[in-house]
Amino acid sequence: MLLLTIIILVIVIGACYIKFALPNVGEATTLKVDITPERVQHGAYLANHVTLCVDCHSTRDWSKFSGPIIAGTEGKGGELFNNQMGFPGTFYSKNITPSSLSTWTDGEIFRTITTGVDKNGKALFPVMPYLNYGKMDKEDIFDIIAYIRTLPSIDNKISDRSIDFPMNFIVNTIPQKASFSIKPSSSDSVQYGGYLVNASGCMECHTQVKKGQIIPALAFSGGREFDLPMGITKSANITPDKNTGIGNWTAEQFVTRFKTYADTANITKLPTNMPNTIMPWTMYAGMDSADLRSIFKYLQTVKPIHNEVVHFVKNEKGLK
Ligand code: HEC
Ligand code: HEC
Repeated sequence: MLLLTIIILVIVIGACYIKFALPNVGEATTLKVDITPERVQHGAYLANHVTLCVDCHSTRDWSKFSGPIIAGTEGKGGELFNNQMGFPGTFYSKNITPSSLSTWTDGEIFRTITTGVDKNGKALFPVMPYLNYGKMDKEDIFDIIAYIRTLPSIDNKISDRSIDFPMNFIVNTIPQKASFSIKPSSSDSVQYGGYLVNASGCMECHTQVKKGQIIPALAFSGGREFDLPMGITKSANITPDKNTGIGNWTAEQFVTRFKTYADTANITKLPTNMPNTIMPWTMYAGMDSADLRSIFKYLQTVKPIHNEVVHFVKNEKGLK
């Protein structure tokens, strides 16, 4: 009986600690980002084509290939991430236009992006890859902040999230203090490519997960499933395995594959015999060719893993 009481007490104290003392990533710093044209321009590049803030925080048109964003919705938020897509609850991307963030300080926005703790000290669920952003160069984050400060204001009230048990407790343990890096020089292409791969979250989608956490031993080997209305899409093996990955691709093939989708004529129609893809081709298509080439060089250095992936699979909803 005494043992049971002690066990219950330990659980209650533990739960209270997680619920009330965490997340603990420190105060938001006092920070004032200079909104210079250079910062805004580079921030726009990163947010639209690398870190893809605008991809998740705008309305996407799923009647087109890879769901390009609808012009005029930049930053308004409201995109849904739910159980059906493999998330532990119902989450909505937030309104990040000035209409919503004008009451936030730059330091509060900075802490949110790089640690996952919002203005009110609440832990965000890592739908948004804030652990990756916390490893970036501070200067890049400043540029992104300068850019989102200049987005046209859109009034859009976002519904509250609801998190399933036990993730509603666990979520408080996920935010981490940031460990920033210095961006490698672009002449050091493998290192620089690695920096871009972290910033653009390729690994999250291209690695299988167990209970929502990626399996590091299977990094980049694909096969993560996304259950979409028209069928299941599985991510590709992008390790340098020669038979099942991209080991036989040339840098030019890789760059061309991405750049194909910069031409809107190639995205207007949905493929008729397969589900749409969640690989954000249209956004990445705006990446500089040199940056894509660095990404390719980096990916050629990761561990090759043999994993044959069928990208598009019928599900009970069938393929139309
Ligand atoms: C994969 C989708 C995704 C990407 C990419 C993404 N976000 Fe988010 N973001 C979300 C979601 C979902 C939430 C809400 C999470 C929650 O409620 O737990 C969020 C929350 C936020 C918040 C908190 C706002 C508030 O009102 O609470 C800010 C600020 C933010 N994101 C900015 C950014 C910036 C800047 C980037 C790019 C560096 C970015 N996001 C990239 C999905 C994303
Ligand atoms: C939101 C999830 C998501 C993100 C983020 C993502 N991918 Fe993908 N990717 C997919 C899926 C799903 C496929 C398979 C379907 C398709 O080809 O569109 C795919 C396909 C690919 C292919 C085609 C491979 C082949 O064999 O045809 C390449 C190359 C690729 N991704 C590279 C990348 C790189 C590099 C990044 C980061 C810059 C990245 N992906 C980020 C989901 C994602």
